[in-house]
Amino acid sequence: MTRCRKFAGFSEDPRRTTRTFLSVPMRDCHRELTSWAEAAGAETRIDAAGNFRAFYAATEPDAPRLLIGSHLDTVPDAGAFDGVLGVVLGIALIENLRGKRLPFGIEVVGFSEEEGVRFNTPFIGSRALVGRLDEAMLALQDANGISVRAAIEAFGMNPNEIPDARLQGGELGYVEFHIEQGPVLEELRLPLGVVEGLAGQSKMGFTFFGRANHAGTTPMHLRRDALAGAEEWIVAVEREGHRVPGLVATVGAVDAKPGATNVIAGEAHLTLDVRHGSDDVRTTAVETLIRHAEQIAARRGLSLQHRTMLSQPAVEMDSHLVGRIEEAIRKAGCEPHRMVSGAGHDAMILAEKVPAAMIFVRTPGGISHSPEETVNVEDVEKAIEAGTRLLNLLATSPVLQSRRTQRA
Ligand code: HGY
Ligand code: MN
Ligand code: MN
Repeated sequence: MTRCRKFAGFSEDPRRTTRTFLSVPMRDCHRELTSWAEAAGAETRIDAAGNFRAFYAATEPDAPRLLIGSHLDTVPDAGAFDGVLGVVLGIALIENLRGKRLPFGIEVVGFSEEEGVRFNTPFIGSRALVGRLDEAMLALQDANGISVRAAIEAFGMNPNEIPDARLQGGELGYVEFHIEQGPVLEELRLPLGVVEGLAGQSKMGFTFFGRANHAGTTPMHLRRDALAGAEEWIVAVEREGHRVPGLVATVGAVDAKPGATNVIAGEAHLTLDVRHGSDDVRTTAVETLIRHAEQIAARRGLSLQHRTMLSQPAVEMDSHLVGRIEEAIRKAGCEPHRMVSGAGHDAMILAEKVPAAMIFVRTPGGISHSPEETVNVEDVEKAIEAGTRLLNLLATSPVLQSRRTQRA
């Protein structure tokens, strides 16, 4: 808990917690994590995508490894636990071994970018591990025109070494501890949950173009007000979210140009975030919302542009690993609860290459992406207990044996 709160002080903004891709305060995170992990007996490095990597060797040199990780970046004005808790818990589990080596290695990973704040696209760090940090992504630019490639170089790494960040294959699996960020576990009065799937998500940008004009001299019937059109569409987005069971649809950011009180907006730039456990429902909802936007624009004499930043399919977690986690939670004296994650996580990306699963920790008040985000220390203790039990279960699991023979 103290460690997570210390990380919350590593920020681009002295008044609040904001830590985006390879910003300067990320160095403070790497420094702290390196000293803790090395004191616990792990070797550390920062890979060419800016991910923190700590490897705790197994009893044998070529044993498979279990990955435990989460992300180190944050949304603007974040809480102290989203992402960081999963990395700190990974190191706590290594510390708990007190030098004891297991028949598999443990690699703790602190991903450099999951939230997608700086470049408007998430999962830059975890994509490097699955070989999907490609040229197109490296060319993306932030608001200051700095590319991902240039940001990596500015941080002191060589983008040409990104292939070295890739997983070697044959990993035992990936386990991510993360706060639930919702109200379910609190409502059920349970400390821990087991994620069996993550909802798919679409992230888009929409722009309504009208005609900037004088707010005082332009009669209402002669206007082409981009912001008024955008507002009408935002209400339609919310209505669609209520109409379709299990759908969430959010316009999180609005930017009106020129943005003056006495000027009718000539442009309105908006973001759209749509999520659902079923990819068909989500993509149908996106098509419906595009149609709404086109109809509103046509009726108001506006033009419309939209682009897709991300269309991330829903992802199932590995049933064997989910089963082992349920067993570990029971052995820690808790009742496990299976659930689908509405939030996106690095586990969605790792699942492309290794068996992946997640352990959710109860979020008091269900509040996240806010300085009010917190966790109960007793629940974190339970998470460490369940994590330790999981390591023991995996050490004797037949899956591990089969993976070791595969590698042999
Ligand atoms: O947006 C999300 O689902 C996650 O918090 N990045
Ligand atoms: Mn988040
Ligand atoms: Mn997160």
